[in-house]
Amino acid sequence: MKVLTPILSLCLAFAIFSCSANKKEYEVKETSLKEALKDKFLIGTALNTNHIWGKDTAAIKIVTEQFNSIVAENCMKSMYIQPTEGEFYFKDADKFVEYGEQNNLYITGHTLIWHSQTPDWFFTDDKGKDVSREVLIERMKNHIKTVVSRYKGRIKGWDVVNEAILEDGSWRNSKFYKIIGEDFISLAFQFAHEADPDAELYYNDYNEWHAGKRDAIVKLVNSLKEKGLRIDGVGMQGHLGMDYPSLDEYRAAIDTYSSAGVKVLITELDVSALPSPRRDIGANIADTEAYRQEMNPYTNGLPDSISSAWNKRMGELFNLFIDNSDKIARVTMWGVTDGDSWKNNYPMPGRTDYPLLFDRQYKAKPVVKEIINKLKVKKSKK
Ligand code: XIL
Repeated sequence: MKVLTPILSLCLAFAIFSCSANKKEYEVKETSLKEALKDKFLIGTALNTNHIWGKDTAAIKIVTEQFNSIVAENCMKSMYIQPTEGEFYFKDADKFVEYGEQNNLYITGHTLIWHSQTPDWFFTDDKGKDVSREVLIERMKNHIKTVVSRYKGRIKGWDVVNEAILEDGSWRNSKFYKIIGEDFISLAFQFAHEADPDAELYYNDYNEWHAGKRDAIVKLVNSLKEKGLRIDGVGMQGHLGMDYPSLDEYRAAIDTYSSAGVKVLITELDVSALPSPRRDIGANIADTEAYRQEMNPYTNGLPDSISSAWNKRMGELFNLFIDNSDKIARVTMWGVTDGDSWKNNYPMPGRTDYPLLFDRQYKAKPVVKEIINKLKVKKSKK
Protein backbone atom coordinates (compact mmCIF):
# COMPACT_ATOMS: atom_id res chain seq x y z
CA MET A 1 0.00 0.00 0.00
CA LYS A 2 2.92 2.29 0.89
CA VAL A 3 4.25 1.85 -2.68
CA LEU A 4 0.79 2.07 -4.22
CA THR A 5 -0.19 5.43 -2.67
CA PRO A 6 2.33 7.57 -4.56
CA ILE A 7 1.49 5.71 -7.80
CA LEU A 8 -2.25 6.26 -7.24
CA SER A 9 -1.83 9.96 -6.51
CA LEU A 10 0.36 10.28 -9.59
CA CYS A 11 -2.40 8.66 -11.70
CA LEU A 12 -4.99 10.96 -10.15
CA ALA A 13 -2.86 14.05 -10.82
CA PHE A 14 -2.35 12.91 -14.43
CA ALA A 15 -6.10 12.33 -14.88
CA ILE A 16 -6.92 15.80 -13.54
CA PHE A 17 -4.19 17.37 -15.68
CA SER A 18 -5.29 15.68 -18.93
CA CYS A 19 -8.90 16.54 -18.20
CA SER A 20 -8.11 20.22 -17.77
CA ALA A 21 -5.81 20.14 -20.80
CA ASN A 22 -8.66 18.77 -22.91
CA LYS A 23 -11.02 21.32 -21.45
CA LYS A 24 -8.63 24.11 -22.39
CA GLU A 25 -8.39 22.91 -25.97
CA TYR A 26 -12.17 22.52 -26.17
CA GLU A 27 -12.67 26.08 -24.98
CA VAL A 28 -10.27 27.43 -27.58
CA LYS A 29 -12.20 25.68 -30.31
CA GLU A 30 -15.56 26.78 -28.97
CA THR A 31 -14.52 30.40 -28.97
CA SER A 32 -13.63 30.53 -32.64
CA LEU A 33 -15.93 32.07 -35.22
CA LYS A 34 -15.68 29.03 -37.46
CA GLU A 35 -16.69 26.67 -34.67
CA ALA A 36 -19.59 28.86 -33.56
CA LEU A 37 -20.87 29.36 -37.11
CA LYS A 38 -20.24 25.85 -38.39
CA ASP A 39 -23.92 24.94 -38.74
CA LYS A 40 -24.73 28.31 -40.30
CA PHE A 41 -22.35 29.19 -43.13
CA LEU A 42 -18.68 29.26 -44.06
CA ILE A 43 -16.82 32.18 -42.52
CA GLY A 44 -13.98 33.49 -44.65
CA THR A 45 -11.42 36.20 -45.16
CA ALA A 46 -9.49 37.72 -48.02
CA LEU A 47 -5.72 37.20 -47.96
CA ASN A 48 -3.10 39.65 -49.19
CA THR A 49 0.39 38.62 -50.26
CA ASN A 50 1.85 39.20 -46.76
CA HIS A 51 -0.62 36.62 -45.48
CA ILE A 52 -0.07 34.24 -48.37
CA TRP A 53 3.71 34.21 -47.92
CA GLY A 54 3.44 33.86 -44.13
CA LYS A 55 5.08 37.26 -43.41
CA ASP A 56 2.21 38.51 -41.26
CA THR A 57 2.40 35.70 -38.72
CA ALA A 58 -0.11 37.21 -36.27
CA ALA A 59 -2.72 37.55 -39.02
CA ILE A 60 -2.09 34.01 -40.20
CA LYS A 61 -2.72 32.76 -36.66
CA ILE A 62 -6.12 34.49 -36.75
CA VAL A 63 -6.89 32.98 -40.16
CA THR A 64 -6.20 29.41 -39.09
CA GLU A 65 -7.96 29.78 -35.73
CA GLN A 66 -11.02 31.77 -36.76
CA PHE A 67 -11.83 31.19 -40.43
CA ASN A 68 -12.59 28.17 -42.62
CA SER A 69 -12.58 29.84 -46.02
CA ILE A 70 -10.24 32.12 -47.98
CA VAL A 71 -10.19 34.22 -51.13
CA ALA A 72 -7.25 36.11 -52.67
CA GLU A 73 -7.63 39.88 -52.32
CA ASN A 74 -5.63 40.68 -55.47
CA CYS A 75 -3.27 38.03 -56.79
CA MET A 76 -5.76 36.22 -59.02
CA LYS A 77 -6.96 39.34 -60.81
CA SER A 78 -5.96 39.45 -64.47
CA MET A 79 -3.48 42.35 -64.11
CA TYR A 80 -1.45 40.19 -61.72
CA ILE A 81 -2.01 36.70 -63.07
CA GLN A 82 -1.65 37.52 -66.79
CA PRO A 83 0.12 40.90 -66.88
CA THR A 84 1.25 40.37 -70.47
CA GLU A 85 -0.60 38.32 -73.06
CA GLY A 86 0.29 34.65 -72.71
CA GLU A 87 2.67 35.24 -69.79
CA PHE A 88 1.04 34.01 -66.64
CA TYR A 89 2.40 34.72 -63.16
CA PHE A 90 1.15 31.97 -60.87
CA LYS A 91 3.60 32.15 -57.95
CA ASP A 92 1.34 34.03 -55.51
CA ALA A 93 -1.83 32.21 -56.56
CA ASP A 94 -0.14 28.79 -56.29
CA LYS A 95 1.10 29.61 -52.80
CA PHE A 96 -2.38 30.87 -51.82
CA VAL A 97 -4.02 27.61 -52.94
CA GLU A 98 -1.31 25.54 -51.27
CA TYR A 99 -1.84 27.43 -47.98
CA GLY A 100 -5.59 26.84 -48.20
CA GLU A 101 -5.18 23.12 -48.81
CA GLN A 102 -2.63 22.67 -46.04
CA ASN A 103 -5.02 24.30 -43.59
CA ASN A 104 -8.17 22.66 -44.84
CA LEU A 105 -9.79 25.93 -45.92
CA TYR A 106 -12.56 26.30 -48.52
CA ILE A 107 -10.90 28.19 -51.37
CA THR A 108 -12.67 30.58 -53.73
CA GLY A 109 -11.18 32.33 -56.74
CA HIS A 110 -11.56 36.08 -57.37
CA THR A 111 -12.07 37.16 -60.12
CA LEU A 112 -12.05 36.08 -63.76
CA ILE A 113 -13.75 38.88 -65.72
CA TRP A 114 -13.91 42.42 -64.34
CA HIS A 115 -13.64 45.91 -65.85
CA SER A 116 -11.11 46.95 -63.16
CA GLN A 117 -7.60 45.62 -62.60
CA THR A 118 -7.54 44.16 -66.10
CA PRO A 119 -4.39 44.94 -68.11
CA ASP A 120 -4.80 47.17 -71.19
CA TRP A 121 -3.43 44.54 -73.56
CA PHE A 122 -6.62 42.53 -73.00
CA PHE A 123 -8.65 44.97 -75.10
CA THR A 124 -6.17 46.44 -77.56
CA ASP A 125 -4.15 45.41 -80.60
CA ASP A 126 -0.51 46.28 -81.29
CA LYS A 127 -1.57 49.70 -82.60
CA GLY A 128 -3.46 50.47 -79.39
CA LYS A 129 -6.87 50.09 -81.06
CA ASP A 130 -9.75 48.09 -79.58
CA VAL A 131 -9.69 44.46 -80.74
CA SER A 132 -12.63 42.80 -82.49
CA ARG A 133 -15.35 40.87 -80.72
CA GLU A 134 -13.81 37.58 -81.90
CA VAL A 135 -10.35 38.44 -80.57
CA LEU A 136 -11.68 39.56 -77.18
CA ILE A 137 -13.76 36.39 -76.84
CA GLU A 138 -10.67 34.33 -77.66
CA ARG A 139 -8.59 36.21 -75.07
CA MET A 140 -11.31 35.82 -72.47
CA LYS A 141 -11.55 32.11 -73.23
CA ASN A 142 -7.81 31.58 -73.01
CA HIS A 143 -7.57 33.54 -69.73
CA ILE A 144 -10.45 31.73 -68.05
CA LYS A 145 -9.47 28.27 -69.27
CA THR A 146 -5.81 28.65 -68.28
CA VAL A 147 -6.55 29.97 -64.78
CA VAL A 148 -9.53 27.78 -63.90
CA SER A 149 -8.02 24.54 -65.20
CA ARG A 150 -4.76 25.14 -63.28
CA TYR A 151 -6.72 24.94 -60.01
CA LYS A 152 -9.31 22.40 -61.16
CA GLY A 153 -10.79 20.52 -58.21
CA ARG A 154 -8.83 22.68 -55.76
CA ILE A 155 -10.60 26.04 -56.04
CA LYS A 156 -14.19 25.22 -55.15
CA GLY A 157 -15.94 28.31 -56.48
CA TRP A 158 -15.18 31.24 -58.80
CA ASP A 159 -16.35 34.83 -58.98
CA VAL A 160 -16.71 34.50 -62.74
CA VAL A 161 -17.94 38.01 -63.55
CA ASN A 162 -17.57 41.00 -61.23
CA GLU A 163 -19.58 44.25 -61.32
CA ALA A 164 -21.21 44.14 -64.77
CA ILE A 165 -24.45 45.89 -63.76
CA LEU A 166 -25.09 49.46 -62.57
CA GLU A 167 -27.38 50.60 -59.76
CA ASP A 168 -30.24 51.43 -62.14
CA GLY A 169 -30.10 47.95 -63.64
CA SER A 170 -28.39 48.90 -66.90
CA TRP A 171 -25.25 47.18 -68.17
CA ARG A 172 -21.96 48.80 -67.23
CA ASN A 173 -20.39 50.24 -70.35
CA SER A 174 -17.14 48.31 -69.83
CA LYS A 175 -14.77 47.28 -72.63
CA PHE A 176 -16.12 43.74 -72.32
CA TYR A 177 -19.65 45.02 -72.85
CA LYS A 178 -18.76 47.52 -75.59
CA ILE A 179 -16.70 45.07 -77.65
CA ILE A 180 -18.58 41.80 -77.10
CA GLY A 181 -22.07 42.83 -75.99
CA GLU A 182 -24.01 41.46 -73.04
CA ASP A 183 -23.24 37.87 -73.93
CA PHE A 184 -19.68 38.32 -72.59
CA ILE A 185 -21.25 37.21 -69.31
CA SER A 186 -22.77 33.97 -70.55
CA LEU A 187 -19.57 33.21 -72.50
CA ALA A 188 -17.50 33.70 -69.33
CA PHE A 189 -19.74 31.32 -67.39
CA GLN A 190 -19.59 28.79 -70.23
CA PHE A 191 -15.75 28.86 -70.42
CA ALA A 192 -15.39 28.58 -66.63
CA HIS A 193 -17.72 25.59 -66.53
CA GLU A 194 -15.90 23.87 -69.40
CA ALA A 195 -12.60 24.31 -67.56
CA ASP A 196 -13.85 22.86 -64.26
CA PRO A 197 -17.32 21.27 -64.43
CA ASP A 198 -17.38 20.70 -60.65
CA ALA A 199 -16.56 24.27 -59.59
CA GLU A 200 -19.31 26.52 -58.29
CA LEU A 201 -19.76 29.68 -60.35
CA TYR A 202 -20.86 33.07 -59.02
CA TYR A 203 -21.86 36.53 -60.21
CA ASN A 204 -20.44 39.15 -57.79
CA ASP A 205 -21.35 42.85 -57.33
CA TYR A 206 -21.50 45.80 -54.89
CA ASN A 207 -24.46 48.04 -53.91
CA GLU A 208 -26.31 44.80 -54.37
CA TRP A 209 -29.36 45.98 -52.41
CA HIS A 210 -30.31 48.73 -54.91
CA ALA A 211 -33.64 47.66 -56.38
CA GLY A 212 -32.62 48.31 -60.00
CA LYS A 213 -29.34 46.41 -59.77
CA ARG A 214 -30.93 43.66 -57.69
CA ASP A 215 -33.68 42.98 -60.23
CA ALA A 216 -31.23 43.07 -63.14
CA ILE A 217 -29.03 40.49 -61.35
CA VAL A 218 -32.06 38.24 -60.93
CA LYS A 219 -32.82 38.63 -64.66
CA LEU A 220 -29.23 37.69 -65.41
CA VAL A 221 -29.42 34.60 -63.19
CA ASN A 222 -32.62 33.52 -64.94
CA SER A 223 -31.21 34.10 -68.40
CA LEU A 224 -28.07 32.07 -67.63
CA LYS A 225 -30.25 29.25 -66.35
CA GLU A 226 -32.50 29.43 -69.43
CA LYS A 227 -29.41 29.02 -71.59
CA GLY A 228 -28.58 25.87 -69.62
CA LEU A 229 -25.50 27.44 -68.03
CA ARG A 230 -24.31 26.79 -64.51
CA ILE A 231 -24.66 29.55 -61.92
CA ASP A 232 -24.56 28.60 -58.25
CA GLY A 233 -24.63 31.86 -56.42
CA VAL A 234 -24.82 35.61 -56.24
CA GLY A 235 -21.99 37.29 -54.36
CA MET A 236 -23.11 40.36 -52.42
CA GLN A 237 -19.82 42.16 -51.85
CA GLY A 238 -21.00 43.88 -48.69
CA HIS A 239 -18.91 47.06 -48.62
CA LEU A 240 -21.27 48.73 -46.19
CA GLY A 241 -21.50 51.85 -44.05
CA MET A 242 -22.81 52.60 -40.58
CA ASP A 243 -26.12 53.93 -41.94
CA TYR A 244 -26.48 52.26 -45.32
CA PRO A 245 -28.10 50.04 -46.38
CA SER A 246 -30.94 49.58 -43.91
CA LEU A 247 -31.30 46.07 -42.54
CA ASP A 248 -34.67 45.82 -44.30
CA GLU A 249 -33.15 46.71 -47.66
CA TYR A 250 -30.40 44.16 -47.13
CA ARG A 251 -32.82 41.46 -46.02
CA ALA A 252 -34.99 42.10 -49.08
CA ALA A 253 -31.96 41.65 -51.36
CA ILE A 254 -30.99 38.37 -49.67
CA ASP A 255 -34.57 37.12 -50.06
CA THR A 256 -34.77 38.16 -53.71
CA TYR A 257 -31.53 36.44 -54.73
CA SER A 258 -32.45 33.33 -52.80
CA SER A 259 -35.88 33.21 -54.46
CA ALA A 260 -34.09 33.15 -57.82
CA GLY A 261 -32.83 29.71 -56.77
CA VAL A 262 -29.17 30.50 -56.12
CA LYS A 263 -27.00 30.57 -53.03
CA VAL A 264 -26.36 33.94 -51.44
CA LEU A 265 -22.74 34.71 -50.53
CA ILE A 266 -21.58 37.77 -48.62
CA THR A 267 -18.22 37.98 -50.35
CA GLU A 268 -16.29 41.11 -49.28
CA LEU A 269 -17.74 42.30 -46.00
CA ASP A 270 -16.46 45.46 -44.35
CA VAL A 271 -18.32 48.24 -42.53
CA SER A 272 -16.64 51.63 -42.71
CA ALA A 273 -16.65 53.56 -39.43
CA LEU A 274 -15.85 56.82 -41.25
CA PRO A 275 -18.14 59.50 -42.60
CA SER A 276 -19.09 58.68 -46.16
CA PRO A 277 -18.28 61.36 -48.77
CA ARG A 278 -21.56 60.42 -50.48
CA ARG A 279 -24.39 58.01 -49.74
CA ASP A 280 -24.06 54.47 -51.08
CA ILE A 281 -20.51 55.15 -52.04
CA GLY A 282 -20.33 51.77 -53.79
CA ALA A 283 -17.07 50.04 -54.53
CA ASN A 284 -16.06 50.90 -58.07
CA ILE A 285 -12.35 51.20 -57.41
CA ALA A 286 -11.87 54.04 -59.93
CA ASP A 287 -14.38 56.31 -58.15
CA THR A 288 -12.03 57.95 -55.68
CA GLU A 289 -12.11 61.43 -54.18
CA ALA A 290 -9.37 63.85 -53.12
CA TYR A 291 -8.31 63.66 -49.46
CA ARG A 292 -10.12 66.00 -47.08
CA GLN A 293 -8.99 66.28 -43.48
CA GLU A 294 -12.51 66.52 -42.05
CA MET A 295 -13.33 63.13 -43.59
CA ASN A 296 -10.55 61.49 -41.56
CA PRO A 297 -11.59 62.21 -37.96
CA TYR A 298 -10.28 59.16 -36.04
CA THR A 299 -6.57 58.92 -36.77
CA ASN A 300 -5.77 58.21 -33.10
CA GLY A 301 -8.38 55.55 -32.49
CA LEU A 302 -12.16 55.35 -32.47
CA PRO A 303 -14.06 57.26 -29.76
CA ASP A 304 -16.00 54.84 -27.50
CA SER A 305 -19.37 55.99 -28.82
CA ILE A 306 -18.41 55.30 -32.46
CA SER A 307 -16.78 52.02 -31.51
CA SER A 308 -19.95 50.78 -29.77
CA ALA A 309 -22.10 51.95 -32.68
CA TRP A 310 -19.79 50.07 -35.08
CA ASN A 311 -19.91 46.86 -33.01
CA LYS A 312 -23.70 47.16 -32.80
CA ARG A 313 -23.98 47.59 -36.57
CA MET A 314 -21.71 44.61 -37.32
CA GLY A 315 -23.62 42.55 -34.74
CA GLU A 316 -26.95 43.39 -36.37
CA LEU A 317 -25.60 42.37 -39.75
CA PHE A 318 -24.34 39.04 -38.40
CA ASN A 319 -27.71 38.50 -36.70
CA LEU A 320 -29.35 39.06 -40.07
CA PHE A 321 -26.98 36.56 -41.72
CA ILE A 322 -27.52 34.00 -38.96
CA ASP A 323 -31.31 34.37 -39.18
CA ASN A 324 -31.04 33.81 -42.94
CA SER A 325 -28.43 31.07 -42.83
CA ASP A 326 -30.71 28.76 -44.84
CA LYS A 327 -30.07 31.13 -47.77
CA ILE A 328 -26.47 32.17 -47.10
CA ALA A 329 -23.63 29.76 -47.87
CA ARG A 330 -20.64 31.93 -46.93
CA VAL A 331 -19.73 35.23 -45.30
CA THR A 332 -16.25 36.49 -46.18
CA MET A 333 -14.51 39.48 -44.57
CA TRP A 334 -12.47 41.65 -46.97
CA GLY A 335 -9.26 41.37 -44.96
CA VAL A 336 -8.11 40.19 -41.54
CA THR A 337 -7.28 43.36 -39.57
CA ASP A 338 -8.19 47.05 -39.90
CA GLY A 339 -4.61 47.79 -40.88
CA ASP A 340 -4.99 45.59 -43.99
CA SER A 341 -8.20 47.11 -45.23
CA TRP A 342 -8.53 48.71 -48.66
CA LYS A 343 -11.05 51.06 -47.00
CA ASN A 344 -8.10 53.04 -45.58
CA ASN A 345 -7.64 54.22 -49.16
CA TYR A 346 -11.11 54.01 -50.63
CA PRO A 347 -13.03 56.11 -51.55
CA MET A 348 -10.47 58.58 -50.22
CA PRO A 349 -6.75 57.83 -49.93
CA GLY A 350 -4.86 58.12 -46.65
CA ARG A 351 -7.67 57.72 -44.10
CA THR A 352 -7.68 55.56 -40.97
CA ASP A 353 -10.71 53.28 -41.07
CA TYR A 354 -11.94 50.51 -38.75
CA PRO A 355 -14.06 48.21 -40.94
CA LEU A 356 -13.03 44.64 -40.01
CA LEU A 357 -13.44 42.17 -37.13
CA PHE A 358 -9.86 42.43 -35.83
CA ASP A 359 -8.14 45.71 -34.93
CA ARG A 360 -4.65 46.98 -35.81
CA GLN A 361 -3.26 45.18 -32.75
CA TYR A 362 -4.76 41.91 -34.02
CA LYS A 363 -7.30 41.95 -31.20
CA ALA A 364 -10.81 40.66 -31.78
CA LYS A 365 -13.42 43.41 -31.52
CA PRO A 366 -16.24 42.90 -28.98
CA VAL A 367 -18.66 41.82 -31.72
CA VAL A 368 -16.61 38.65 -32.32
CA LYS A 369 -17.28 37.42 -28.79
CA GLU A 370 -20.92 38.51 -29.08
CA ILE A 371 -21.47 36.43 -32.22
CA ILE A 372 -19.87 33.40 -30.57
CA ASN A 373 -21.79 33.82 -27.31
CA LYS A 374 -25.09 34.33 -29.05
CA LEU A 375 -24.69 31.03 -30.88
CA LYS A 376 -23.53 29.23 -27.74
CA VAL A 377 -26.65 30.37 -25.88
CA LYS A 378 -28.86 29.28 -28.78
CA LYS A 379 -27.20 25.88 -28.90
CA SER A 380 -27.54 25.23 -25.19
CA LYS A 381 -31.24 26.18 -25.35
CA LYS A 382 -31.91 23.41 -27.90
C1 XIL B 1 -9.69 45.88 -53.92
C2 XIL B 1 -8.49 45.46 -53.08
O1 XIL B 1 -8.90 45.27 -51.76
C3 XIL B 1 -7.42 46.52 -53.15
O2 XIL B 1 -6.22 46.07 -52.51
C4 XIL B 1 -7.08 46.86 -54.61
O3 XIL B 1 -6.17 47.90 -54.66
C5 XIL B 1 -8.34 47.22 -55.36
O4 XIL B 1 -9.30 46.18 -55.25
N1 XIL B 1 -14.56 45.02 -55.22
C6 XIL B 1 -13.85 43.89 -55.52
C7 XIL B 1 -12.49 43.73 -54.95
O5 XIL B 1 -14.39 42.98 -56.15
O6 XIL B 1 -11.65 42.99 -55.79
C8 XIL B 1 -11.84 45.06 -54.63
O7 XIL B 1 -10.62 44.81 -53.96
C9 XIL B 1 -12.76 45.92 -53.79
C10 XIL B 1 -14.05 46.18 -54.53
